[in-house]
Amino acid sequence: MDITAIWKPEYSVGHQEIDEQHRYLFELWIMLDSMKNQSDNKLSLEQALLSLFDYVEIHFSNEENYLQAHPTIEEHKKIHADFIGQTKLFMEQFSAEKLDIHTVVDFLLDWITHHIVKTDVRYFKELKQKA
Ligand SMILES: [Fe+2]
Repeated sequence: MDITAIWKPEYSVGHQEIDEQHRYLFELWIMLDSMKNQSDNKLSLEQALLSLFDYVEIHFSNEENYLQAHPTIEEHKKIHADFIGQTKLFMEQFSAEKLDIHTVVDFLLDWITHHIVKTDVRYFKELKQKA
């Protein structure tokens, strides 16, 4: 699978840097997805999870900077913080060998895609209208 199988024009928030970061998130997800069946390769799977989750944090704070002037930025920050909390939980479950990796991989693509389309696109649009 590559990025062209995932990315759709409607995922664009109209901000080049953020769009590139979102595409990179999908690239990291593809890497994770390609490793999910290697149950003998626990270290690589852990690295793939961490790569995605670390980048998510960097990306969120970057995105929040651009959206700082949005009137409901705090709500958006809360959504990001909740998701980060969720990723920490996933890593704990992974360490305890209690993580259902297939469910989590599906959940992550679903969450990222919906967050971009439903929340990020709207926030960048509203910010542009306000300016
Ligand atoms: Fe966001």
